[in-house]
Amino acid sequence: MKNDIFRTLLDLGFSEDTFSEVIAVTRFENMWNCSPLGVKLNSENKTLHFYVYEGARILSFLSKRNLFTLNVVNEYSAFLNCIFKRNIENEIRKITNTLGYLRIADAYIVCENSLPIKVSKDKYLVNAFAKEIVILRNKPRAFNRVLPAVIEALICYTKIKPYSKVYGFSSVLELLERIRYCKDIVDHATSNSEAKRAIDFIYEEAVKLANNLREDR
Ligand SMILES: Cc1cc2nc3c(=O)[nH]c(=O)nc-3n(C[C@H](O)[C@H](O)[C@H](O)COP(=O)(O)O)c2cc1C
Repeated sequence: MKNDIFRTLLDLGFSEDTFSEVIAVTRFENMWNCSPLGVKLNSENKTLHFYVYEGARILSFLSKRNLFTLNVVNEYSAFLNCIFKRNIENEIRKITNTLGYLRIADAYIVCENSLPIKVSKDKYLVNAFAKEIVILRNKPRAFNRVLPAVIEALICYTKIKPYSKVYGFSSVLELLERIRYCKDIVDHATSNSEAKRAIDFIYEEAVKLANNLREDR
C-alpha cells in the first residue's frame, strides 16, 4: 500500500484499534454479493484486515486472490438490504463485470485479498491490500443514533444462528433482548417511519428466527 493510500485510510476513520463497519462488494458465481464486515488497519504492514466466520458466503470468494471493494457507508438501509439480501443488484454500480461498488457509499476502496488464514475453529483472518480509494462524498454528516442502533441490531441478528448452536437457546433470548433495546433507541431518536419500519422488521425477523430455532431443538 502506498503511503498516500494509507494516509487516506486514516483520514476516512480506519484505525488499528477500532473496527470500522464497512460493506464488501464481491462477485462470484455470476452474482453480486454484499457482506457487512468489521475492518481494522495494520500500520506495520499497511494492510486492512478482517475476520470472516465459517458459513459466510464471502468465504468462498476469498478462497482465491480476488479484487473487490470495501464500501464506506453511512446509511442504515444499505446494511439492512445487505443482511437480508434485498435489492442488491440495484444498489451496485459496476466498474468492470466483476468489480462494483455501492451507489450509496461515501467512499470505496479497491482491495486485493490474501487467502483466508484459519485462526480458530470457525474464524478466518483475511488481509486486504488497498490498491485505490475513491471518495464519492465530501460533505460531513451530523451524527444520529439511528445508524448505530440499526447496525447493532443487525449484528445481533446475524449472531442468532451461530450463537444458538454454540451457546444454546438462552443466548438467543439475550440477543432478542438487545435488539429490543436497539428498537427503543430508534423509537426515541427519530419520528421517521421508514427507520421505525426497518428496526421493526429486524425485530420481527429475529423473533421468527428464534421461534424456528426453538422448534428445531
Ligand atoms: C455491521 C456488521 C458487521 C459485521 N461484521 C462481520 C465480520 O467482521 N465478519 C463476519 O464474518 N461477519 C460479519 N457480520 C455478519 C455478516 O455480514 C453476515 O453474516 C452476512 O450475511 C455475511 O454475508 P455473506 O454470507 O453474504 O458473505 C457483520 C454484520 C454486520 C451487520
